[in-house]
Amino acid sequence: MTNEQKLEQIKKMKIVPVVVLNTLEETLPKMQALVNGGLPCAEITFRTACAEEAIKLTVKNFPDMFVGAGTVINREQCEKAIAAGSKFIVSPGFSEEVADCCAEHGMLYLPGIVTPTEAMAAIAKGLTTLKFFPASNYGGLKTIKAICAAFPYLKIMPTGGISADNILEYLAYDKILACGGSWMMKGTPAEIEEATKKAVELVKNA
Ligand code: 3PG
Repeated sequence: MTNEQKLEQIKKMKIVPVVVLNTLEETLPKMQALVNGGLPCAEITFRTACAEEAIKLTVKNFPDMFVGAGTVINREQCEKAIAAGSKFIVSPGFSEEVADCCAEHGMLYLPGIVTPTEAMAAIAKGLTTLKFFPASNYGGLKTIKAICAAFPYLKIMPTGGISADNILEYLAYDKILACGGSWMMKGTPAEIEEATKKAVELVKNA
């Protein structure tokens, strides 16, 4: 899959679930819930120790899922995430070493930005699809529009504070690739499946 095709895939799904796994045992039930809910995609965050193993386990058991790594903040994590089978890499901020590592591997990288300076650092590395994080704390759609006015070729994936209450507003803006979020990941696998179904239904016509 080329990076262009991966971006198309993310655009089609409209939502990238942000998944925090505290234990490896949680992995498969939660991934199954996302698949059953109709959203076979996950950004598994490197903010917990089991992230690398969780990605490996997911890739092995759900080979068709679109699984990437989130909260990747340095080269070491990036190498591990890629070796584990991640299809994309996300950071909360912009990291030059992660950008370089992804470029060396031809890997899709979505760095986080909130300011024009950070956007420029990413653009200098040839990156034009950026995560806007934490979206709701930094002015949400209003700030995204102001940034995209200066850099009209950017595509943005807002994350942080996105929920069923505001996702449609974000998706209505044509510079939004998709939205990231964890709102459907709360509770038991059955609850996750139910919340995922609702989220998928909500964005169906967005
Ligand atoms: C992330 O790291 O991307 C966020 O934790 C997701 O934000 P949310 O929990 O507000 O959806």
